Order: sequence, then structure tokens, then C-alpha cells
Amino acid sequence: MSSWADQWRKDFPALRPRGKGAAGYLDSACLTLVPRPVLDAMEGYYADTPGCGGRSVHRWSTAVTEAVEVAREEFGRYFGADPAHLVTLRNTTEAINLVGRGLGLRKGDRVLVTDQEHNSNLVIWQVLARTLGIRLDVLPLPEDRAFDLDAYRRNLARPTRLVSVFHSSNLDGRTLPARELVEIAHEAGAEVLLDGSQYAPHERLDLTQLGVDYYALSLHKMLGPSGTGLLYGAPGKLERLAPLVVGGETVAWTDYRDHEPLPVPARFEAGLQNYAGIVGARAAVQYLGKVDMDELRDHMVRLQRIAADTLSTEGVRLLGLPDHRARGSIFSFILEGVDAHDVALFLDEGYDTLVRSGMNCVHSWYRARGLDGSVRASFYLYTTEDEVRRFRDGVAELARLTQGRRKASPPTRAVPQRKRVRAR
Ligand code: ALA
Repeated sequence: MSSWADQWRKDFPALRPRGKGAAGYLDSACLTLVPRPVLDAMEGYYADTPGCGGRSVHRWSTAVTEAVEVAREEFGRYFGADPAHLVTLRNTTEAINLVGRGLGLRKGDRVLVTDQEHNSNLVIWQVLARTLGIRLDVLPLPEDRAFDLDAYRRNLARPTRLVSVFHSSNLDGRTLPARELVEIAHEAGAEVLLDGSQYAPHERLDLTQLGVDYYALSLHKMLGPSGTGLLYGAPGKLERLAPLVVGGETVAWTDYRDHEPLPVPARFEAGLQNYAGIVGARAAVQYLGKVDMDELRDHMVRLQRIAADTLSTEGVRLLGLPDHRARGSIFSFILEGVDAHDVALFLDEGYDTLVRSGMNCVHSWYRARGLDGSVRASFYLYTTEDEVRRFRDGVAELARLTQGRRKASPPTRAVPQRKRVRAR
């Protein structure tokens, strides 16, 4: 059956038919697939101008120096930010670490997170609590709606240095009301860092308008090459951060005693950079520029509606908000009595469907509820209705095969015995 996704799919080599057909890739919240123009841009770097940026004066080196700045301008246009306020990094985790380590937090400074943060926005604050004595507080999220602004406002009556929360959740797809959240924090004298890794791929951002202090995102969740991300800092904010890594290309000069840091953002981009990744990421945002985000949102709703059929299967329990329109691109669930990794292996081997399983790097949330994981299907612009139907049918089949053993031990016959490799 034809799908809105068909107009994009031909551009994604990973979706070519192989073996029994094209794999149903439902793990885009982890990493999105890469379209041909991104691969071409990366190959262009290696094949045509494989120089090191900002250093040598020969033609290949100057070409790559310029290509990185052209990419930064493209990112600025796409994300509504002055390019000078964007640092290129490996990923959201690195961006959050840069803010955490760079802010100069002191003993007693309060950092507020939600109870559903990815480890990338939790572990750094735990480490700083241990090493510096900052105070880390956790705001519980409601189960029936995305966010409770009143509870948040009350919580901020306590002096708070930083609110550091996700914009959209990688666990259940909910989106927080970022603008209100920023306004309330600023009224309370706190700064805000948003983890935009799951939001940025699905909406057009205007970071300047949003008024947020820091925004972290991963370009490999928005069609870019793996290991590419950005940190945005509002005017004057990056200047206040100490670099996370120092060394080559971060300084104007050194002598044996001292050095002068380069202006931002260069002072944060130490050592040889991922030039192929950066030019590839530029091609990715150019590609995304062709996508109507309203249409993408409508498509996600169509896919969620099909995924929601799964909930009528006995034993399937949703992790997420009841309204399917509030779950963005993510459908998380438990099949009672069946280990989440076994569900994922069954779908892979029997239904050519690739989903994430485990604790989605949000161990804290699962452990607090005594859960040992869930299955997560996540969608993007190339996901078709048929792929989601196949996923739904696979879950229904596994539920049928394991019926009667729902509360007993995990199934041993229905699932393949393939070795699990470091799945978390
Ligand atoms: N944050 C990524 C995910 O949730 C890795 O899959």
C-alpha cells in the first residue's frame, strides 16, 4: 500500500530490499538512517578534500575549514541560531557533559531533572553531586499528561541553579512545554538546559525564540552520520563555560607557562574534528529542510494509530500517555511474562522488524517501578504503515504463542536462541 513515506524511502540505501525484503527499521529514536546525499557529502570529503581543518594552509585544508563553517551556518539557519552560538560535538551526551562540567557549579547548587531522563542527563549530575556536592533533585512526571506546570512552579520555589530536562522523551515520546518551562525557570532565577535529541528530529526549532539557555541535540537522530551533535548556547552563555577538552585548535597561542583560548565556539572543538561527519550532517539538515514538519507529525499520528492496535492484544501493556497523539514517534510496551529482548529477537528473526528493547538508557525509571525493561518501536519519515502493521502482527503472534505462560517464566520455544550482545 502506498504511504507518505514512499517519497523518501528511495533515498535511503539501508532500506533496499535484501533477502526476504527490506527490514522494517523501527529504531529511529536510537539512530536514524542516512539518505544518499549525506553519504555523498561524506565521500566527497574523503575522496576530494581530505584535509585537516583550521591548520595547514594548502587547498584541501582550507576547503575543509570553509566547509565546516558553511555547515555551521546551515545549522544556524535550520535551528534558528547564530552560528557562533553552536558547538559541533559528538552527541547530546557530550553536549550535556560540557555544560555540566563547564558551568562552574559549586557545593549546594541545585540542579533539577525529571524522573524520566536518559542517563546522558542524569549520570553527569550524580557525578557532580559526589565530587562537588551539588544538590540533584528529581521532579516526578504525571502518568496521565505530559507535564504538571503547577508542580514545577512550586518546586522552583527552592533556589535552583539549573533545570536540565528532556524536550521529548526517548522512553514514551511525551513532549514537555518547553517555552513555559523556560519562562518559569527564568522567573525563578534558574537557567535551562534542554536535551532536544528526540524533539529536534520532528519539529522545526527556533532556538533564539525559545529563549532556552542551552540546547543539546544529536544530528545522528536526524539523518546525519553517527557521532555528530550540537550544543547551542544563548548569547553570552557559551562564553561562561569552561571547555571540557582542551588542546589543539582551541588556543590562539601557548608558551611554556600559559595559553590564550580561542573565542567560542572554537575553544570547545579540540583536536582533529569529525569533518566527514560535519559535512554529512550539513547535507542531512538540507535534506530535512525539504520535509514539511506538519506532514511528518500527521504521519507519526497515522503510525501511532496502527501501533495502538497492539494494545488490544492480551498481555500487552503500554508505557506512555493514553492519547496516541501525545506519544510522538515512540511506542513503548511490555508483553507480560516475556523478556523484552526476547520480543525484539522474535520480531527481528520472524518479522524482519528491528526494535529497541531493554531500559532505553533510563534505568532509573524502570528500576523505580520494578520493571526490567520494555520494547520500543520508534518511527521516522521513512517508516511505512505496512511496517507498523507487520510489527503489530508479530507482537500479536508472539502473544498467542506465549499465552498461558503470561505470568510464568519467559518463553523458551517461541523465541530464537541468538546470543544477545551487550543489550541494555
Ligand atoms: N538515546 C537513544 C535511545 O533512546 C540512544 O535509543
